[in-house]
Amino acid sequence: MRIVLIGFMGSGKTTVAKLLAKKLRLKTIDMDDLALKKSGRKSINEIFEKDGEQKFRKIEYEVAKDISNEDKVVISTGGGVVMDKSTMNYLTKNSSVVYLKTGFDKIKKQVMLKKIRPPLFKSIVSAKKLLQAREPLYENFANIVITTDNKSVRSIVKEIIYGRK
Ligand code: S3P
Repeated sequence: MRIVLIGFMGSGKTTVAKLLAKKLRLKTIDMDDLALKKSGRKSINEIFEKDGEQKFRKIEYEVAKDISNEDKVVISTGGGVVMDKSTMNYLTKNSSVVYLKTGFDKIKKQVMLKKIRPPLFKSIVSAKKLLQAREPLYENFANIVITTDNKSVRSIVKEIIYGRK
């Protein structure tokens, strides 16, 4: 079994991946962690600053390729993986793709809680625009769409495993 979680920054992919994997006895892979390791930089922000977004997308593609044969895994992706078709080709292969669909208000709150703001969350206005542009892509690539507003991590995980009651 291979589950790939997609969704915007702050939609809870990493947290949901951890509990989902625990419940299903699968391992987790965090693509941002692997991308950071591959980059040799200190942070994702540093990759964007020193190498640029295009370079980050290239690294992300390589990570998707590296892990394309991993099984019994829950993969949490970076919010921008859907921008690159070839990255998504590797990620969707033999996978259930779950879109964690989160409204902008919750996203904003979650991102504001982070110590370091993600490089593509430059302003509320630009982040909102980015979400609007990406939403159709998330919907398109997803096999399952789970809305996360007003739901706990536990209930999101239950819904992924058992479906909606
Ligand atoms: C990005 C989202 C980030 C990270 C990078 C780019 C994006 O991941 O991959 O900052 O383009 O939306 P999270 O969605 O885990 O924050």
